[in-house]
Amino acid sequence: MSAKVIIGAQWGDEGKAKIIDILSEQSDVVVRSQGGNNAGHTVTVNGEVYKFHLVPSGILYPGTTCVVGNGVVIDPKGILEEIALLHNKGISTENLRISLRAHIVMPYHKTLDGIKEEYRGNSDIGTTKKGIGPCYMDKAERSGIRMCDYLNPEIFEAKVRENVELKNSIIKNVYNGDVQFDADQVLEEYRGYLKQLEPYFADTTVIVYDAIKEGKKVLFEGAQGTLLDIDLGTYPYVTSSHPVTGGVCVGAGVGPTLIDDCIGVMKGYVTRVGKGPFPTELFDEMGEQIRNVGHEFGTTTGRPRRTGWFDAVIGKFAVRTSGLTAIALNKIDVLADIDKVKICVAYKKDGALVKEFPASLEDLAKCEPVYEEMDGWGDITNIRSYSELPETAKAYVKRVEELCGAKVTMVGVGPNRDQNIYVD
Ligand code: GDP
Ligand code: IMO
Ligand code: MG
Repeated sequence: MSAKVIIGAQWGDEGKAKIIDILSEQSDVVVRSQGGNNAGHTVTVNGEVYKFHLVPSGILYPGTTCVVGNGVVIDPKGILEEIALLHNKGISTENLRISLRAHIVMPYHKTLDGIKEEYRGNSDIGTTKKGIGPCYMDKAERSGIRMCDYLNPEIFEAKVRENVELKNSIIKNVYNGDVQFDADQVLEEYRGYLKQLEPYFADTTVIVYDAIKEGKKVLFEGAQGTLLDIDLGTYPYVTSSHPVTGGVCVGAGVGPTLIDDCIGVMKGYVTRVGKGPFPTELFDEMGEQIRNVGHEFGTTTGRPRRTGWFDAVIGKFAVRTSGLTAIALNKIDVLADIDKVKICVAYKKDGALVKEFPASLEDLAKCEPVYEEMDGWGDITNIRSYSELPETAKAYVKRVEELCGAKVTMVGVGPNRDQNIYVD
């Protein structure tokens, strides 16, 4: 039995998809269990770049079953566009399976996402405006529409009509907005999309359970990251799902006893898109250098990502809250040619040392990073074995491991599939 969970251990974009892609080669099933097309997962194969939002990154391997689980919120139009792009590149989606229990992102969710952000003004979250929050709101409020509803035409029609009426009223009367939806049009458009998706529908909990029980290799592809978790992240500057490993159990419908390993993906520095406190953020030329060398611009929105030094307080928090058994440390090649690389080992707040990631955003905003400096390294993009890494880079990897409390088993030295070093 081998079931591995891969999650983001920072604020997302840690290079999860690259790790999934590498591990997919030996996997039978790859499963997404939360989030939606707010995710942007990049895989580079022989210089060709693939960007995934809803389809699991494992689709590049013909024998791999790719599951979009019940905890994912699916924009039907978005996933169809992704499928079409893959088909254009000659990649089959024959092995794609979509959960009957997954909630559908409807057009009014996207409109409401935008309206709510505007309404928040300066306190906006900086969402991807993909309708993720409003869709999860409907799910929690018990008025959402699921894939299985499409298979019952009367139920589907009733739910769409009821939602459109209510959302129109909210847009107009609460937000003074002028967008109004026509239920007939929405029904026609979404029936069209869902008809095309129907061949992929399945009870995905059965697929995942059977695969694990049959001793197949199953990978769970996390989206977003620990600090974007609605419970454990920097609330309210978070997404509306559970990117921590615990989210996989609910979002894929598997019990925790069926999971063997939990790998947290980190970058050798930290980035975040959207708003909210970020203790190690760099506002100087060093921040700019990391952004440019690391190509830190959003896969989904194209926004420049905020950059900062590696934060071990966050790393330790991720190891603890997700029970991480290993760390994949990506992008340390981006730190090449920096004389002294900094690692944040704790925070200082009102003169006192803070060693654990605070719950309160106001406290976090007051935290000043306490840094340790380490000697840097040069170009490592052509190195393929751990023993060949410069001693300074190895010392950095070991320090990350010590401070975070889990073994670093993989080190990323470039975006390509082969630019990954297994640590002895
Ligand atoms: P994800 O959302 O966690 O899958 O990450 P993204 O795809 O949004 O962003 C990670 C970016 O870093 C992508 O452009 C990857 O191709 C790239 N990348 C991943 N690992 C490495 C690495 O070790 N070094 C470098 N230079 N780039 C990497
Ligand atoms: P991957 O899977 C980085 C951020 C948004 C915003 C907040 C809420 O590629 O790592 P939402 O649209 O989810 O309501 O936005 O979460 N966010 C991400 N940041 N990587 C992601 O996904 C993200 N998905 C959402 O920028 O700050
Ligand atoms: Mg991303």
